[in-house]
Amino acid sequence: MIPASVCMASSAYFLFLLHLFAFANVAPASGHVYAAPKEKMTHLHFYFHEIYGGPNTTTITVVNPPGNNSFNNFGSIGVGDNMLREGPNPSSKLIGRAQELAVQASLESPAYLSAFNFVFTAGEYNGSSISIFGRAVLTETMERGIIGGTGKFRMARGYTISRLIRRTGTTEIVLVVEYDAYIFHY
Ligand SMILES: *[C@@H]1O[C@H](CO)[C@@H](O)[C@H](O)[C@H]1NC(C)=O
Ligand SMILES: *[C@@H]1O[C@H](CO)[C@@H](O)[C@H](O)[C@H]1NC(C)=O
Ligand SMILES: *[C@@H]1O[C@H](CO)[C@@H](O)[C@H](O)[C@H]1NC(C)=O
Repeated sequence: MIPASVCMASSAYFLFLLHLFAFANVAPASGHVYAAPKEKMTHLHFYFHEIYGGPNTTTITVVNPPGNNSFNNFGSIGVGDNMLREGPNPSSKLIGRAQELAVQASLESPAYLSAFNFVFTAGEYNGSSISIFGRAVLTETMERGIIGGTGKFRMARGYTISRLIRRTGTTEIVLVVEYDAYIFHY
């Protein structure tokens, strides 16, 4: 008697061959081969403005870890709809929104697991967006991956380099982060 496992293996091999021949026959007739469009690299430089607390807050803590209620504590989760501006000044031109989810995911000093959509609302990239994912430690120069995009940034990948350049206030904390985004896209 042929062991069941050999039977399965040989029938799997038969199916594999069948597929191979099926594709070998079909591919030349119906397949389309597209030449890959040329990839571009776009460098954007802008500033992220966040207000935490007060009537004009752009970030809220939505989950406080049990027994502790600081945004800096392990397990806290925040949601933000922050401003992207051309310059570091709060009156500088608004070019987009940074809509984000951030989780304080470090048992040691605060480090956020962050997911952002940067949605551009002005200029050449109005209506396009990039999706960013990565680790944020506000006291360091941060690097995060660009993992996708829409519109002019469809199929984007790349990275951002950012650093906190200003932190003011106590009940209403204002953070300004300088960003360089290096975006590969078509
Ligand atoms: C909140 O925003 C409004 C409208 O821009 C402004 O008049 C007000 O001064 C701001 N409040 C604070 C505390 O910044
Ligand atoms: C809350 O967090 C602070 C800062 O991390 C810590 O010093 C304090 O012990 C924590 N309190 C509780 C009840 O866990
Ligand atoms: C961005 O695009 C939207 C939708 O097309 C348009 O309504 C808006 O005026 C544009 N904004 C700027 C600043 O160009």
